[in-house]
Amino acid sequence: MTSRHEWRGHGRAIKKAPRAAVSRRVAIAAMGGAAATVAGLARAQTPIAYEFIIAPDRGLGLAPTLACTHGTVEQGEGPFYAPATPRRESLREPDTAAAPLVLSGLVLAPDCRPVASAVVDLWHCDESGIYDNAGFRYRGHQFTDENGAYRFETIRPGLYPGRTAHIHAKVQGPATALLTTQVYFPDLPEQNFADRIYRDDLLILLRRTAAGWDARFDFVVPAATGGV
Ligand SMILES: [Fe+2]
Repeated sequence: MTSRHEWRGHGRAIKKAPRAAVSRRVAIAAMGGAAATVAGLARAQTPIAYEFIIAPDRGLGLAPTLACTHGTVEQGEGPFYAPATPRRESLREPDTAAAPLVLSGLVLAPDCRPVASAVVDLWHCDESGIYDNAGFRYRGHQFTDENGAYRFETIRPGLYPGRTAHIHAKVQGPATALLTTQVYFPDLPEQNFADRIYRDDLLILLRRTAAGWDARFDFVVPAATGGV
């Protein structure tokens, strides 16, 4: 592994935003200002419906970060979630000139133990800020291996009006509740600051590589509800 000091994204104060204002703004921005019924969009929690399996060992050798001391903050799925995405390790499209991004990490239970066979379902816009709402460009899911690790090859998403760059995620282990959230890029401070739902504690750890960008984020999923 590369030494930790090369990663960006540590040590900033958490910024929180009023949730009611956020919901309206995000929905309107994402829909290009069209009139829409926005109530509830930002906190929507569409369930995932995948059968849990364990992926082959990815050999990532990742150790849990300090993020496992807190559950990952939930954020709404927004208006563009699509269920039943392809299972795949790469979301990269052959025709893109966008900077390659590898996003990897662990799925952890609240006690910091890795969760095998967890679903990680990602979606984001393309380099021009456009979501594919007809197909599955930049959408896909995979399962964590026996070490709780996932690894996606994708691109850095672009910007659309009203939002900073972000990647949406739904994550769930076989015996955990569903986590829906978004993760952000630490090298876009102005855009992040202007985004009213951005949070520092959802920053990926980011470093430049010869091939593009490597990112790390560990998802800490909530414990199952309704259990004993
Ligand atoms: Fe989005």
